[in-house]
Amino acid sequence: MKEVKVHDRHFVQYLGASQIQNRVEEIAAQINEEYEGKDILFIGVLNGAFMFASDLLQNINIPCEITFVKMASYQSTQTTGNVEQLLGLRESIEGRHVVIIEDIVDTGLTMSRALADLSKQNPASLAVATLLFKKECLKENVPLKYIGFEIPDRFVVGYGLDYDAQGRNLRDIYQLKDD
Ligand code: IMP
Repeated sequence: MKEVKVHDRHFVQYLGASQIQNRVEEIAAQINEEYEGKDILFIGVLNGAFMFASDLLQNINIPCEITFVKMASYQSTQTTGNVEQLLGLRESIEGRHVVIIEDIVDTGLTMSRALADLSKQNPASLAVATLLFKKECLKENVPLKYIGFEIPDRFVVGYGLDYDAQGRNLRDIYQLKDD
């Protein structure tokens, strides 16, 4: 098994690059079929989704556009915790078919906030494509139309996902190793 060290932690390979590519191609094929005749606006969530978005879009063969947003946290005056806010969307999504591209859905809080923001702008449809889904961590019920892999509640890096800002460049996805 391939192993990597990111900062001070050891990780073991969990999903290989070709396994990821195959699954990304399957999702793209499904999108090509389900959105035939409709123009899609993909919205990639930075930073984590950059690799998934790139590979997915290279396999889309129907008319589409892509743009990117960031989720930034701010201290809410209404709640005790940090709230995520969607930043950087310049395009109007009104009446458009939108597919959000995310790297991982964990608690679902980030995605539920993004969906709430976007649905206010009256898109024709709004769907989520996430590469990874930690099903057992889900706290908010978010509709996920396309899921690459359901994974256990264990920290992962690679293929866009980071551990303390590093590891995004890895072609495979690695899981935190038992100490
Ligand atoms: P959520 O709001 O809890 O669903 O968290 C989503 C965000 O947490 C993702 O966009 C990632 O940035 C980060 N995240 C959650 N789990 C992991 C992981 O295992 N590795 C790297 N980042 C993660």
